[in-house]
Amino acid sequence: MTAPDPKDDKRPTPLIVKDVPALRAYREKLRAGQKTLALVPTMGALHDGHLSLVKAALKKADHVMVSIFVNPTQFAPHEDLAAYPRTWESDCEKLTMAGAHAIYHPSIDTMYPPDFAATIHIEHITAPLEGVCRPGHFDGVATVVAKLFMQAQSDCAFFGEKDYQQLQMIRKMVVDLDMAVTIYGLPTLRDDHGLALSSRNAYLSDAERTIARQLNKVLHEIAHKIKHGTAPRDAEQWGHDEALRCGFDAVDYIAAAHAETLAPLHDPAHEPGRILAAVRLGKARLIDNIALS
Ligand code: PAF
Repeated sequence: MTAPDPKDDKRPTPLIVKDVPALRAYREKLRAGQKTLALVPTMGALHDGHLSLVKAALKKADHVMVSIFVNPTQFAPHEDLAAYPRTWESDCEKLTMAGAHAIYHPSIDTMYPPDFAATIHIEHITAPLEGVCRPGHFDGVATVVAKLFMQAQSDCAFFGEKDYQQLQMIRKMVVDLDMAVTIYGLPTLRDDHGLALSSRNAYLSDAERTIARQLNKVLHEIAHKIKHGTAPRDAEQWGHDEALRCGFDAVDYIAAAHAETLAPLHDPAHEPGRILAAVRLGKARLIDNIALS
């Protein structure tokens, strides 16, 4: 049997919204019809992980809007902003097939007019881990996500647990700033070998992909060691050495952290724990994390 041609599927193409007035008009129309809206913020280069967020969002709200905006303020000057994969056509096709109702695709000027002067900074939770390796990154994420929330005024928003520190920071921002949006965090989607799906996996060669698949195994081994009595700092050191032995070029961090504050985990028997890692391999910087229990 031949697979159905996606072009034969008569799903409606999502509405493309490009600026704030059009977004407001869309939101008002939904409100008038007493329809709820879910937002799935993305930077495009969509994979099954993003589509799983859309699928979950469709179960929680009447309408689902996916934002696609490669946010320059969350990239440091030496990072991969210019090289970041941009796949607009296939993103639109995937979102049509997934049943999204709208795509918000603002320009740089819509998000950051030349005289833009605001920054949202969330203290503490953003300091360790990614905060050490990517100074300013979380200010860029918090600012753009706050803008998206205020522009879209969605009832809820969906994020992946793969960017775990980002998710926890967004939860904290929403509480501290009394934002009326419910945050849902969804489990990381993985390939059959445990590699977390990521737009940045596009940078990996076949040989690098084989190495990349070891990362999740290292994290599980660290969790196993801690559960069987190894001190968190010793387990982290083991993970660091093991990642290099597996063939990663460098380890930015491998950490056992408190699952809510992301401070170093000290008492695994009584605190919720999360094992998080960022490693470098060729052109890619890969992050992953798992729950300790
Ligand atoms: O996770 C991402 O893709 C981005 O950090 C986000 C949340 C869309 C903000 O640009």
